[in-house]
Amino acid sequence: PSSNEQYRPDYHFTPAKGWMNDPNGMFYLDGEYHLFFQYFPDSTIWGPMHWGHAISTDLVNWEELPIALYPDSLGYIFSGSAVVDSDNTSGLGTAENPPIVAIFTYHDMAGEKSGAADFQSQGIAFSLDKGRSWTKYEGNPVLPNQGVRDFRDPKVSQIQLSDGSKSWVMTLAAQDRVQFYKSPDFKNWSLLGEFGQGIGAHGGVWECPDLISLTSPAGEQKWVLISSINPGGPQKGSATQYFIGDFKDGIFTPDDTMIRWLDYGPDNYAGVTWANVPKEQNRTLFIGWMSNWLYSQVVPTKTWRSAMTLSRELSLFDVDGTLLVKSAPVKELETLRKEPIEVNELSNLPAQAVEILAELDGSDSFSLTISNELGELISITKESGLVSIDRSKAGKSNFQEDFAAMHSAPMSWKAEEIRIFLDASSIELFVNGGELVMTSLVFPNSPWKKIEFHQGINEGVIYQLN
Ligand code: FRU
Repeated sequence: PSSNEQYRPDYHFTPAKGWMNDPNGMFYLDGEYHLFFQYFPDSTIWGPMHWGHAISTDLVNWEELPIALYPDSLGYIFSGSAVVDSDNTSGLGTAENPPIVAIFTYHDMAGEKSGAADFQSQGIAFSLDKGRSWTKYEGNPVLPNQGVRDFRDPKVSQIQLSDGSKSWVMTLAAQDRVQFYKSPDFKNWSLLGEFGQGIGAHGGVWECPDLISLTSPAGEQKWVLISSINPGGPQKGSATQYFIGDFKDGIFTPDDTMIRWLDYGPDNYAGVTWANVPKEQNRTLFIGWMSNWLYSQVVPTKTWRSAMTLSRELSLFDVDGTLLVKSAPVKELETLRKEPIEVNELSNLPAQAVEILAELDGSDSFSLTISNELGELISITKESGLVSIDRSKAGKSNFQEDFAAMHSAPMSWKAEEIRIFLDASSIELFVNGGELVMTSLVFPNSPWKKIEFHQGINEGVIYQLN
């Protein structure tokens, strides 16, 4: 739905008012994709964290529901996950009406102020009515602090152990590493193993991990460990790295020591995947917070702050024997398309919400600009193996010194086609269907009006999106 608030996206999720950060607790059930999020309703800057809630039947159109979890005497409700406990292993529901179990971090503000290190612990809550209302478990916390200052963001999934048994496995961020715990019932957790010391990027604290299984193009089952990091990202500030390897009984063994980034733009953080997606869909679905801790609290929006990225489908692809994760926009986004408009060299943009598709001419370098009548512009190029988005002249930027910048990403393999999603205050670039992704916020002083292909692109198509 279009709105008359400047910078309010048309087709990215934003809360009606207040502050939002990480996506939390995503699961699918009975035709509904649930999205919870770090939320402070009373201000447009970070504060006492709640879990806000939204649902969608198509991962594209979102309806905001009442707040799901409020802070309590144990602390703020930080990031975490939710799963459908179909076998009622938690005993928090019944066999006929199994519970949805949410697991999150309690952040005890008083504890933090007192200088203690043990102010983060994990708690659970459950819902028996499709996520509409939640009851906190009375025995919280279920995983007390183990003496680590940063001890948070539990992501739980059901994984088969090598003895054939199925177990709940929690992936948890513990400062400079990820820890794996197992539990039969969400209430008792035991440490299986940890990963991350001396490997990967360590320019900041590790946050919001996720462990997923994907099949390689050769048909091999691989495990992908996602771990956000703040600061220390490739474009400064926060970003999401991942590792590819094997996972067995709590031991993650990476294939190599290469540092991989899920999205090379500055504005995709703390993303994780949906639980309980129907098997027949065979999809791994991801969403991230479309901002960066460098400037998230000072971007020029008024009544709300932050949007989520587009929902994306993750898969593996291979570049000369090296596996990488591809992030493709979910296919449901195509339902937003209006009549296609052909573009050769230059075209007016019909709206602020558009999708642009273009085949490259085979030369593996290209250049295009998106601009408005004020002379503000975004320039997108591929040159000498680097894909870049330059937002240094793309509108408002004086709120933070790092914002006006050009961001580049290495792409050693050939770019064949590009797909760009523009909304009121963002651009998402998917090269080769998502083999290379860059997500950037932009705050033009007047909506984008025009696109120009300068080099490497013969023609393309623009779709206005609803
Ligand atoms: C990541 C993060 C998480 C934490 C939450 C607090 O952006 O710092 O580690 O749980 O935000 O809002």
